[in-house]
Amino acid sequence: MSAPLRARTPASHFEALYESSTDPWDYLSSAYESEKYAATLAAIGPGPFAGALEVGCSIGIFSAMLAPRCGELVAMDFSARALRLAGARLADLANLELVQGSFPEQAPERAWELVVCSEVLYYLDRPALAMALQWLRVQLAGGARVVVVSWRGPCTSEPLCGDEVHDMLVAELAAEHAFDGRSEGYRLDCFDRNER
Ligand SMILES: C[S@@+](CC[C@H](N)C(=O)[O-])C[C@H]1O[C@@H](n2cnc3c(N)ncnc32)[C@H](O)[C@@H]1O
Repeated sequence: MSAPLRARTPASHFEALYESSTDPWDYLSSAYESEKYAATLAAIGPGPFAGALEVGCSIGIFSAMLAPRCGELVAMDFSARALRLAGARLADLANLELVQGSFPEQAPERAWELVVCSEVLYYLDRPALAMALQWLRVQLAGGARVVVVSWRGPCTSEPLCGDEVHDMLVAELAAEHAFDGRSEGYRLDCFDRNER
């Protein structure tokens, strides 16, 4: 018998996490996260990207690293509490806009040059991941670079495992798959239709 499908993780789950800690994943102090951010920036490249969307920006640690490579960076999260923390941290970044919304159905409508989905897609369920894939296809067709990063640990409470998400994206977007930067701890894939 196959395992029961889990529903996508709701915003309320993250609101509770941010209520108990202002840095629930130790982004500010974890060497693992710092190394992963450096690898993610290397895969993204120097830019500049006129318009970039960061999905699931959390408290804005990676947003601060990404913003200098972007003309305009829109950082999106469905947690109001996360966005308040990000807003306090990033108040002096003139090219950053914080947007509250649920991905993929409330993704800001425009053609992006860069879309980053770091540690967020495995919180979706299969129907929502299929919708996200369609949305990413449209962005790739419009010339975007798409970078996806996911933890490979045991998915005990998340609806999907990191490897499952990446295997599906790599299979579905094989023609645009430009870079596989996996490590023992995470998957890092870059999709791009253009030679840059
Ligand atoms: C584990 S954190 C990732 C933070 C950041 N991207 C990074 O890699 O450092 C996941 C964040 O994604 C947000 N999130 C999860 N599912 C989402 C969805 N469907 N739409 C928007 N935000 C979502 C959560 O609120 C949380 O802040």
